[in-house]
Amino acid sequence: MGPRNGRSRFSVIAPGRVNLIGEHTDYNDGLVLPMAIEPYIQLDVTARSDRLMVLATDRGGQPMVRVDLDQPLAPDDYAGSWAAYPCGVVAGLKLLGWDIPGFNARISATLPAGAGLSSSAALEVGVATAVEALTGSTLSLEEKALLCQRAEHEFAGVPCGIMDQFAVTFGTAGNALLLDCRSRSMRHVPLAAEAVQVLVINSGVRHSLADGEYARRRAECQSAARLLGVASLRDVGPPEWHARAPSLPDVERRRSMHVVTEHERTLAFVNALEARDWQAAGECMYGSHASLRDDYEVSCPELDEIVEISRQIDGVFGCRLTGGGFGGCAVALVDAGKTGRIQAEVCTRYRDRTGIAPIIFATRAAPGVALLP
Ligand code: GLA
Repeated sequence: MGPRNGRSRFSVIAPGRVNLIGEHTDYNDGLVLPMAIEPYIQLDVTARSDRLMVLATDRGGQPMVRVDLDQPLAPDDYAGSWAAYPCGVVAGLKLLGWDIPGFNARISATLPAGAGLSSSAALEVGVATAVEALTGSTLSLEEKALLCQRAEHEFAGVPCGIMDQFAVTFGTAGNALLLDCRSRSMRHVPLAAEAVQVLVINSGVRHSLADGEYARRRAECQSAARLLGVASLRDVGPPEWHARAPSLPDVERRRSMHVVTEHERTLAFVNALEARDWQAAGECMYGSHASLRDDYEVSCPELDEIVEISRQIDGVFGCRLTGGGFGGCAVALVDAGKTGRIQAEVCTRYRDRTGIAPIIFATRAAPGVALLP
């Protein structure tokens, strides 16, 4: 059975994301400020006349995946495989009663995998968008992002918040996305590309702590919220926190301090961007990093090095780890006129101190997922 009302040959582009500020706040119902970035995943799709989903990737060594869409899809069958993401999305759409025709997808990417730039969310949202085009049915953008988040929970076993899938889905060119993860209301915040540039600095390391510690931070925040008698840490403002923090155990006190202060820093960062006060925006980023390093404890020596190096370079306004932490990338806000020199200096100094040649790229805020005409 082939596609009914849908298209039979097309491509989908799904960008990665970088988070400017508002880290480890999404699963606390807080604010985040990510943007979609220029590196992306591309899916070249052709419909098949049978009921197989056949996925091939140009990522070295990854086997081709063949899935019979008439059979139930079980998370255990894909544990640890990149196929977990597409299969999780397809399973979610089947649960909605979608009749998905067979298809081939050739997947290529300029977005690195495993660098904390949401290549998994890009793949999920890309696959969901491809199936929409194949079937001619659509979800609302919000439903699509949430379905992809569920795929990540159920098939990849990562209890992530909503930030990554929303950034990949709702990103717009030239703007960061201020997302309230409780109400899911959004505001596009323009980035003055003629004045400031966003740099993504890949530390080149990924510490194995990453997965287990992420779930543990989530649980610690839930425990702090319970002890404070609120539904989530979003419900605690700074004055209330200061009054009640002394009664909290040390871990809950420090985790909740990060979340409460990160909320304030995110608001201050947006105000600073809108006032074109780049120094003030940068200070919020440095403050965020220190809080993630000391209180939330999700940094690592390599990310701390990048932030320290950045502080010493003229033209860097601010720098911080971005995403889950324990390696991956840092994000910096820099003077647009000095980008090239800053990139070269960070690269040399980081290599001298760690022996790792970092991959650094400048990126504008890119549009979210798109079907190519
Ligand atoms: C990962 C998760 C996101 C978010 C960040 C931390 O990227 O996928 O949902 O929690 O970590 O801000």
